Order: sequence, then structure tokens, then C-alpha cells
Amino acid sequence: MMHFTIAIDGPAAAGKGTIARALAARLGMAHLDTGLLYRAVGALVAEGADPVAAAQGLSEGDLTRGDLRSLSAGEAASRVAAMPPVRAALVDFQRRFARREGGAVLDGRDIGTVICPDAEVKLFVTADAETRARRRWLEAGGEAAPEPFATVLHQVCARDERDMNRPDAPLRPADDALILDTTRLSIEDAVAHAMRAVSDRKPK
Ligand code: DC
Repeated sequence: MMHFTIAIDGPAAAGKGTIARALAARLGMAHLDTGLLYRAVGALVAEGADPVAAAQGLSEGDLTRGDLRSLSAGEAASRVAAMPPVRAALVDFQRRFARREGGAVLDGRDIGTVICPDAEVKLFVTADAETRARRRWLEAGGEAAPEPFATVLHQVCARDERDMNRPDAPLRPADDALILDTTRLSIEDAVAHAMRAVSDRKPK
């Protein structure tokens, strides 16, 4: 039985998803982007569902809808994520995933603090707001993106504000998390730092 949980938290567009996917691929572990859970609930609510009922009835299939990556889905996610009963309804799903055979990488906002406080490795991936907004804007097409850079920056800051200041499971590093600031790091360097943190803890 090999249980090994890697918890990766941090603000929007800091690079946690990229790092989580790279670690999972290199280590042969399963990966869960927990933001997708909140995005899927937000999308169901936008269609008229009750937030708590949507969270309780969430299925794997809901996580593969094509419209979950948009800025508006992120906005809707951040709103339902501030509701304690929605968060509570999603805890078991995440904990089961974290303890699956072969190890798991979960990325989100509260994985190291609330969902998996006993995770073997905890990383808090961050970068300054300008850098994160620029990454999101470039991902969306840069000059060809539907939103100007200033709008994306404004949304990144609004989301940080809401995620960090909600009373239930606010975004913050766990006391024992390794802080990884990617503002001036390439993806390769950020992944290399993360891999070193894992090697230090992983049984050979
Ligand atoms: O990582 P993301 O952009 O997909 O997250 C979307 C929203 O979901 C984000 O604003 C905060 C919320 N979220 C959360 O509260 N807890 C998590 N573990 C993951 C995401």
C-alpha cells in the first residue's frame, strides 16, 4: 500500500496546475485539479441549480465539461467556494482521491491546510499579481484575447481578495508548506524545485 499525498496550494495563475501535472506525470501519480470541483458547481448554479445540491451530487463527468476554464467560470467558482456547506460537501471526494493507491497530487487553495493537513509534501506556489494576470491574458490569446490585460488584472486581484478573506478555509500557506515563488522562474526551474521537495520526503 503506497499512500503519498502532495498538496499544492496558491493563488490563481501562479503555476500550481502546471507544477501539479508535471509532478504527477513524473511520479506516476494521479492528479486532481480541485478548482474544477468549484468551477463545475459554479456552472451548475449558473444554470439554476442549488449550490449545495450541486456540490453533493457532483460526478466525475461534471468535471469534464468544456466551459469550465473561462474567466466567468472562475468568477462563479470563487463565489460558490465562499459558501461553507458547498466546501463541506466536497471534502470527502477530495480526501478519498488524496489517499488513493499509488499516490496523488492535489492542487487548490486549502489542500495543505484543511483537506490534507497530513500531506507528505506541501507546496505553496505564488507569484506577483501582475505576472499571474499576464500569464492568464497570454493564455487567453494576448492582444487577441476577449478581455484587455487591465480587466484580467482586475479579476485576478478581486479573486485573490475573495479567496484570502473568506472566513471558511481562506487561501493561506500551511505552517509547514514550502513557499515557491514563480515570478522569476521558468516552468522547468519551478518543476525542478518542486521535484527536489518531493525527493526529500519520498521513501525510495
Ligand atoms: O484554481 P481555480 O482558478 O480553478 O479555482 C477557481 C476558484 O475555486 C477559486 O477562485 C477559489 C476556488 N477554490 C477553492 O476555494 N478551493 C480549492 N481547493 C480550489 C479552488
